[in-house]
Amino acid sequence: MAVKKEVDQPFTPTPLAFKIPNGWPAPSTNIFANNPLTEEGFQLGKKLFYEGKLSKDGNFPCASCHQQFAAFATSDHDLSHGFNNSFTTRNAPGLFNLAWMTQMHWDGGISHIEVQPLAPITAPNEMAENIENVLNKLKNDAAYPPMFAAAFGDAQINSQRMLKALAQFMGSMVSANAKYDKVMRGETAFTISEQNGYNTFKQKCASCHTEPLFTDNSFRNNGLAVNNQLHDFGRMMITNNTADSLKFKVPSLRNVQRTFPYMHDGRVLVLSQAIEHYRTGIQKNQPTLDPLLANGISMTDNEKFELVLFLNTLTDTEFLNNARFAGQ
Ligand code: HEC
Ligand code: HEC
Repeated sequence: MAVKKEVDQPFTPTPLAFKIPNGWPAPSTNIFANNPLTEEGFQLGKKLFYEGKLSKDGNFPCASCHQQFAAFATSDHDLSHGFNNSFTTRNAPGLFNLAWMTQMHWDGGISHIEVQPLAPITAPNEMAENIENVLNKLKNDAAYPPMFAAAFGDAQINSQRMLKALAQFMGSMVSANAKYDKVMRGETAFTISEQNGYNTFKQKCASCHTEPLFTDNSFRNNGLAVNNQLHDFGRMMITNNTADSLKFKVPSLRNVQRTFPYMHDGRVLVLSQAIEHYRTGIQKNQPTLDPLLANGISMTDNEKFELVLFLNTLTDTEFLNNARFAGQ
């Protein structure tokens, strides 16, 4: 494969600033410290995210399970569809504000955004490919050598660069402009019902789904019954510590209106049912049940209704429609 002449030109990528929204904490580690964010790196990462060649049969790019209109979760499916008519064993989470996420996956089994893509690319029930094949396919596609050169200084294609580019794209996805954010910035106001819902949220939910990220990034058991098909014990499968049995990552509730179905296995179809779980569904006999939930969460029907209205104010249509993150 002939490499184009662009390699002889001076390497002048366009730096991009990563903006921390006003009032948000700085991420605990800077994911761009060893991976300087540039427009060229971002564009390469975006092309790779939508690239079927990262999967064995070409049909399962990252974006096949991570759909923008669903905040990059899999819309409407409990488990996602992968290679050879197989299914994942967990619900695909939305992808945004990953720069603040210290540990990834429902069990926290992945601790860096730059290694995460190796998991789906090589999983037989997801993209079912191996990295060497992926790199060969990219080398043989005339579009890629110049894009790697523009992003990294020369046309060499290797896994480290591919992973860094994907991290630049995914790490740039920030969702911070929902109605909730506009209210916090004083640009608009909640309706009375939304405000009531917010008050309930702060009392009953925010100790785990903590603002402004709507997660405290911890692993907890919120009292779901064990799934008899999947036998998924969550965090314990990573730590081998029985104290972690049935603990899963507290998911962000940003864009939650779009990321249905809910919970690590997608067992809950609609938002009001997810809230109902806390009211009447908690399995109180589980030794690792979070102490905050030992008595369930009591709530009137009206409080539940207004809580849904509040959660809907976390839908960030600017992020969901942002052409910068959209496939071509
Ligand atoms: C077949 C569907 C599927 C494909 C294809 C897929 N993913 Fe995922 N993704 C998932 C599922 C399911 C999870 C949750 C895994 C878990 O918790 O064990 C996930 C989790 C993630 C996470 C962690 C999010 C979090 O909140 O912890 C990131 C980041 C991610 N995927 C990025 C990617 C990238 C990049 C690609 C392409 C290289 C990709 N995914 C391809 C289904 C998929
Ligand atoms: C003790 C911590 C804790 C409290 C309190 C809590 N949650 Fe959760 N929440 C979790 C955990 C952990 C999960 C993930 C559970 C799983 O999938 O196994 C979760 C999942 C969810 C989900 C599913 C989101 C998704 O993307 O799948 C919703 C919706 C939700 N919680 C809403 C609420 C609401 C509303 C309240 C208050 C009434 C609340 N939670 C209180 C810990 C908590």
